[in-house]
Amino acid sequence: MNRTHIPGLLLAAALAVGSQAQAQTSPVNPLAPAKVSLLDRPQPNVDSLPDDEYGRLARYGHELTTRTFAHIGPEVKDDRKRFAGNNLACTSCHQENATKPYAIPWVGVTSTFPQYRGREDALSTVEERVNGCMERSMNGKPLPLDSTEMKAFTTYIHFVSRGIPVGAEIEGSATKAVKLPNRRADVAAGEAIFKAQCQVCHGENGEGRRVGTLGDAQGYVFPPLWGKDSFNNGAGMNRIITATRFIRHNMPQGVNHTTAILTDDEAFDVAAYMLSQPRPLKANLEKDFPARWNKPIDAAFPPYVDGAPADQHKYGPFPPLAEKARELAARHAEEVKAKQAPPAAK
Ligand code: HEC
Ligand code: HEC
Repeated sequence: MNRTHIPGLLLAAALAVGSQAQAQTSPVNPLAPAKVSLLDRPQPNVDSLPDDEYGRLARYGHELTTRTFAHIGPEVKDDRKRFAGNNLACTSCHQENATKPYAIPWVGVTSTFPQYRGREDALSTVEERVNGCMERSMNGKPLPLDSTEMKAFTTYIHFVSRGIPVGAEIEGSATKAVKLPNRRADVAAGEAIFKAQCQVCHGENGEGRRVGTLGDAQGYVFPPLWGKDSFNNGAGMNRIITATRFIRHNMPQGVNHTTAILTDDEAFDVAAYMLSQPRPLKANLEKDFPARWNKPIDAAFPPYVDGAPADQHKYGPFPPLAEKARELAARHAEEVKAKQAPPAAK
């Protein structure tokens, strides 16, 4: 009895203190974005859902996310279902059922989309974002918007996003920042780190280790990092800053952002080694980032609008490019302001 009473009292006391504190400060803006943290959030489980339409789609979405290769991979029997061009799973990058903080979790994606995206210079929906990874990370084709697979992905994304307010600022989303060294990445040093820390799982030639045999659509125990069954050069992971941040806080497998073992410098160099290797090429990449001024500094494909060489966009040093990008953004903001300003009074 007491055990249920005390927390209730504590809660009431906390609420009273909270409302007092609020009354004293300026009123909270109810339209401001909510702030939520994923760091201690329990993982939602699709098995808890009933066997209705939503539950079935969320469960299929979870299955597609973790075993992408078995349903829409390039080796599945039904060739009309071969949407992905490689045998990765979404969870090869979006770890722990796409819920791990700083491993690009999908928790909250339903609440943060539609969203302006520089790559398209347009507002993008959840479906378009899924297809962004289908065409790049998965080196494949877009899923039709009315396909069961697309509905399953968006339902699963919706399920893991439950409880996150629309427009929230989310701690633990995307990847965690690093301090980038102000130098070109050292590919040779990165190769040594790869041999010591990565090769045991990802293989001498970054080819990974398959579950079964070629053609069986069973995917990988350890996914490939380069070569023909990897992400293509238009993928987010092909950008060295994104890869550095991901690797720094999520690899070798088993670490997270609190237990990471690589230094920022080591993660930067090993990412450079990984990205110096061959991988599939995406056609028409010059059409990405049509606004140009907001093209990420580590998008290592032409055109390069800031006058810096291709090699610097691929390997750094990045702090000078970040400075140039800030200038371009400021100039763009001024142009926008000038266009919006009312004509000067005479
Ligand atoms: C090779 C790694 C990789 C794989 C595999 C991958 N993604 Fe991604 N995904 C990324 C990266 C990196 C980003 C963030 C890119 C950026 O915006 O900089 C991302 C972003 C996303 C986002 C938006 C997340 C957010 O917080 O805004 C969604 C949704 C998504 N991916 C869906 C998928 C789906 C669905 C699959 C499988 C069909 C998939 N991804 C496979 C690397 C991957
Ligand atoms: C103990 C085995 C292991 C080690 C060691 C390891 N990885 Fe991984 N890596 C994995 C697994 C497994 C995944 C798929 C993610 C998952 O299932 O959670 C992965 C995924 C990745 C991915 C994203 C998916 C892809 O195929 O592109 C990258 C990039 C990556 N690892 C890089 C590295 C780097 C760099 C190192 C060394 C610093 C490293 N890994 C060490 C097991 C390992």
